[in-house]
Amino acid sequence: MTTTARTNPPPTIRREDYRPPAFLVDEVDLHLALHPAATRVKARLDLRRNPAAEPATALELDGEALKLVSLRLDGAALPPERVRPRADGGLSIDGVPDRFVLESEVEISPEANSELSGLYLSGGNYFTQCEAEGFRRITFFPDRPDVMARYTTTIEADRAACPVLLSNGNPDGAGDLPDGRHWARWVDPHPKPSYLFAVVAGDLVAVRDSFTTRSGREVALAIWVRQGDEDACGHAMDSLKRSMAWDEETYGLEYDLDVFNIAAVSDFNMGAMENKGLNVFNTKYILARPETATDADYEGIETVVSHEYFHNWTGNRVTCRDWFQLSLKEGLTVFRDQHFTADQGSAAVKRLADVRRLRAAQFPEDAGPMAHPVRPDSYVEINNFYTATVYQKGAEVVRMMRALVGEAGFRKGMDLYIARHDNQAVTIEDFAQAMQDASGVDLTRFRRWYAQAGTPELRVRDSFDAATGRYTLTLSQSTPPTPGQPEKLPVPIPVRMGLIGADGAERPGAGVLLLEEAEQDFTFEGLEAKPVPSLLRGFSAPVKLSGLSLEQLGFLARHDTDPFVRWDSGQQYAVAEMLRLVEDFRAQRPLDLPEGLAASIAALLDRAMDDPAFTAEALTLPSEDFVSDQMPVADPEAVHAVRQFLRAAIGTRFAGRFAVLHAELADHGPYRIDGAAMGRRALRNACLSYLGQAEGGEGLRRAEAQFNTGGNMTDVLAALRVLADSDSPAREAALAGFHGRWKQHDLVLDKWFAIQAMSARADTLQQVKALVGHLDFDLRNPNRVRALIGAFAAGNPSQFHHASGEGYRFLADSVIALDAVNTQVAARMVGPLGQWKRQDARRGALMRAELARILERPGLSKGTFEKVSKSLA
Ligand code: ARG
Ligand code: ZN
Repeated sequence: MTTTARTNPPPTIRREDYRPPAFLVDEVDLHLALHPAATRVKARLDLRRNPAAEPATALELDGEALKLVSLRLDGAALPPERVRPRADGGLSIDGVPDRFVLESEVEISPEANSELSGLYLSGGNYFTQCEAEGFRRITFFPDRPDVMARYTTTIEADRAACPVLLSNGNPDGAGDLPDGRHWARWVDPHPKPSYLFAVVAGDLVAVRDSFTTRSGREVALAIWVRQGDEDACGHAMDSLKRSMAWDEETYGLEYDLDVFNIAAVSDFNMGAMENKGLNVFNTKYILARPETATDADYEGIETVVSHEYFHNWTGNRVTCRDWFQLSLKEGLTVFRDQHFTADQGSAAVKRLADVRRLRAAQFPEDAGPMAHPVRPDSYVEINNFYTATVYQKGAEVVRMMRALVGEAGFRKGMDLYIARHDNQAVTIEDFAQAMQDASGVDLTRFRRWYAQAGTPELRVRDSFDAATGRYTLTLSQSTPPTPGQPEKLPVPIPVRMGLIGADGAERPGAGVLLLEEAEQDFTFEGLEAKPVPSLLRGFSAPVKLSGLSLEQLGFLARHDTDPFVRWDSGQQYAVAEMLRLVEDFRAQRPLDLPEGLAASIAALLDRAMDDPAFTAEALTLPSEDFVSDQMPVADPEAVHAVRQFLRAAIGTRFAGRFAVLHAELADHGPYRIDGAAMGRRALRNACLSYLGQAEGGEGLRRAEAQFNTGGNMTDVLAALRVLADSDSPAREAALAGFHGRWKQHDLVLDKWFAIQAMSARADTLQQVKALVGHLDFDLRNPNRVRALIGAFAAGNPSQFHHASGEGYRFLADSVIALDAVNTQVAARMVGPLGQWKRQDARRGALMRAELARILERPGLSKGTFEKVSKSLA
């Protein structure tokens, strides 16, 4: 680390500079002697020259924060003049033969590792995180995904402190050592890249189960948690077994080891990690009990457990050639986990949630300073590219590909992809080629989706010729410029659609239109009257649709047979009304509840119980960020005022009906997590949320009662959220009571922090600053940082964008403090400041000033440097 502001920027890595590795590693024999401050790592690598690479004179090894103890080549100590330390912490070794054995020993300090990359301590237990470049913090190695080796790992530790010793693959012996120490060996028969290496050691207990694959392999399943958490693993285990069965049924893919271990850890940079045979999970995505976890938490567990499991084939058996190909495994695996969850029950509601998330996180990213293609062309810090674009948009691209090649073609494509590339490190191009070869569908143009950043805008015009009965839909597309990509080409956009008659019935003509050019006409014959087009059914492409009238949107919200279009049209309709109210607010005209909006709420409530989960989604107004995104210049204050006004007006107008539903939908009997029960709770709490804003205070009384008597965290938290937004005297008591009851439960305490950070109250920033000083706040715990600082900056637009600029200053101070502790988490927090171009000139200048202040800090990490400097550009 340097001590002055960066004078020379860190290097940019480019996709076009990819070269195959000069040396390959066949076998890795690792020995870790664990100790909190001084762990010794011995590595024995069988290396050979790569026949497919240009000849190199030196062996390049990555390394970071390693203390070299010894280095031997073919048994002999290496003379110092042949070992050149690199500026980045790696080593260059000169004059190596074509085939040799390299033995190294290094010392590392897990307890000093607050980066949570490499080997670190959490609550006295040892965990590793190696993706993307953490293995180089454990030993010297060509730490790149196209070097795939077979690993044997021996772990040695104090038996009392670390009774459990886990690594990848199958167990292969264990025993005692002198001085109260013991050892265990693990052999992973499958060649793997270093980013999939893992070790877990400590005082953990297992919740065990088993799964028999369809070819008869008995797999021992275990979830490793801290003592006392055994009762909270049921949903994760159940999700795992359903995932294993689903991958067999859907893709014919079976698990390939005798054991599958999951270890849960409280300090984790991301959600979870798919290490071969030893997944490591953020506790947030494992532990759930009805009284501590919300329905959203249960859904998150199913999503992440399945995601990591599915990586075993899409990611581990077939991996990425380089990190530019990250979406090869992430986009595909997100697609697979979305498909899995949809198959478990409520496909339509799952799709709404996924689209909501894409629009909330990916669309702004694609329109902002960090916009990048699904397959990026360059990066400074790869950890900055674990993005909504690589994950969520990447999944949308796979989904469209499936629409183009058909379900059967897609399955054939997956089979071919795996048959061709098993045990290889490959590219997105290889995936597209396999899909094309297996299906016979030309995907040449489709590949533009991987190369081009930015969200395409899809516009629709239509006309009807009453004399001939011909209806014409004119679809056009354009993609706005993004950094480094001023010009865009048209992309193939599959538009799943239907036509609705004035009576609300479907007319012939439904299907998928493929818009390949900048503009195309699509005609439909034999219609008696002009229909209303229902477009992008199921959100068949990740684009922004415009061109429908308010009237058409209102009609679709009521009549479309496709639940996605029904929901989305309602949302677009509400946005249009909210934008009108924003104008009224700015002109200081009185605000009125638009009658059209009131009518659609009334219509929803008439059919509320048809599908409670859908009703809850449709009743929820578009988020403040989503509305701001539709404005040429955002106005967080006005949008917030309008949304709050509408919530109160709707709550007051329909108070009676909300109250009836709220009472009717109360949970009776045991807590259940099936779609129907979750849908009922979602609708019940949507009603409570409106009631909480209504005149008269009845909603607050209900919230207080629900908070005090709620039998599950979903209901308790929904009630607390209402109270936290209010000035009710019950607020302080509820927050204090909640803290008192749950102060020993990290994951529940995170909710306590987040709810205060997202409060609509005007004093929220003061509260957040005070909470940073709370005894339970810890800058070293990523979940806590996300719960307080992340929730405030990304989840509370009106307070974050407070006109004083205090929110910006707070975030910049937080980034600076975090960068000295955990650079990955620090860089992730920069995002909201990067959206300054969306704000008015005054706010924009304040945001830029804070970014500039961060950039001046001495010793800024390259990750934070990249985010901040690109945000300023
Ligand atoms: N591969 C993991 C997952 O999706 C993400 C790990 C990323 N970690 C990181 N530090 N960038 O599923
Ligand atoms: Zn993943």
